[in-house]
Amino acid sequence: MTEPDSMPEFMIRTVDLHKSFKTVKAVNGVSLNVRKGDIYGFLGPNGAGKTTTIKAILGLLNQDAGKVYLNGMDTSEVGVEARVGIGYLPERAQFYRNLTAYQTMEFFAELKGVDKGQCDELLKKVGLESWRDAKVGTFSKGMVQLLGVAQSLLGDPHLLILDEPTSGLDPRWARVLKDIILEMSAKGTTVFFSSHLLFEVQELCNKVAILNRGQLVIEDTVENISDGIQLKPHLILRVAKDGDVVGQLLRAGGFSDVTVAGNQITVSVEKTEKTKVLHIIEQAGYEILDFKTEEPSLEDAFLGYIGDEATAGGIQVDKKKPKMEEPEEPSFAEPVPSDEEVDA
Ligand SMILES: Nc1ncnc2c1ncn2[C@@H]1O[C@H](COP(=O)(O)OP(=O)(O)O)[C@@H](O)[C@H]1O
Ligand SMILES: [Mg+2]
Repeated sequence: MTEPDSMPEFMIRTVDLHKSFKTVKAVNGVSLNVRKGDIYGFLGPNGAGKTTTIKAILGLLNQDAGKVYLNGMDTSEVGVEARVGIGYLPERAQFYRNLTAYQTMEFFAELKGVDKGQCDELLKKVGLESWRDAKVGTFSKGMVQLLGVAQSLLGDPHLLILDEPTSGLDPRWARVLKDIILEMSAKGTTVFFSSHLLFEVQELCNKVAILNRGQLVIEDTVENISDGIQLKPHLILRVAKDGDVVGQLLRAGGFSDVTVAGNQITVSVEKTEKTKVLHIIEQAGYEILDFKTEEPSLEDAFLGYIGDEATAGGIQVDKKKPKMEEPEEPSFAEPVPSDEEVDA
């Protein structure tokens, strides 16, 4: 008999997971603790090892060392049974180009042994109902991604694992996907998703792990991560004129982190110092048109933890203007691409 995990409150646990490809240590001692009911964000720059970790969790590749527990079961002992009821969206979902959207859903429903009655409902959920009978070969990258999302929801999974789910989606569909994640979570599904976009993790997740160069930088709640490095809130204000002069005034007044863009000024301040900033400006005779406070973001925290590597490694830190991935020609192949082929 297999030994049950002593911590049944966790949906996913990895313990000191290792995986190398030839000379590359893709995953280097990663231990994750995903509780039942979490919306868990797995964050890290491109190449950090997120996909490799996810594939090890799913048994799509064999780790060199370490353990994976799913729903309290040791996957090295239980195998397939531990992975029943998991919905998975691979990083670049690919499907047979000659099947229609509906046939693709049917194919996966059969593969998973779940009711085909859900296929239409799920196509509708991701906005593909009018493409039901169109061949996947005619789909844009975003539509293929949405079909992948629909496929992952078949059988009402108790665990959803999504690898960069918003990749290739325009903001409107990214929003739809976020709503689906929230809806699944409300129904009790544990959601684990990877992302290199800080803002979406911050928006959705209760728990976050940050991975960098194959190693876990931190695993904690979003609040604790932000609090942990005691980031100051930003005060953002707009003056009627002379933004540069006002910026200088604030620097002279002891505020070191001041940035000026036209007449908008951003200052890092302790909560207690906000009124001091306003006083300095008003006493110098400048009119403040409006101001607001922005709490520290996960983005700030991330940069605090891994510094310049964040940008060097490809993490996208501009939360205001999410850069869409370059549109690519969709490519189509077997539904389940093999990874072990390139795995030396
Ligand atoms: N099948 C593979 N063969 C060789 N190297 C790989 C393979 N998969 C991933 N790698 C390498 O492992 C590292 C981690 O990759 P990956 O897990 O895809 O990162 P992420 O998903 O965070 O972008 C990268 O350096 C990548 O080039
Ligand atoms: Mg990846």
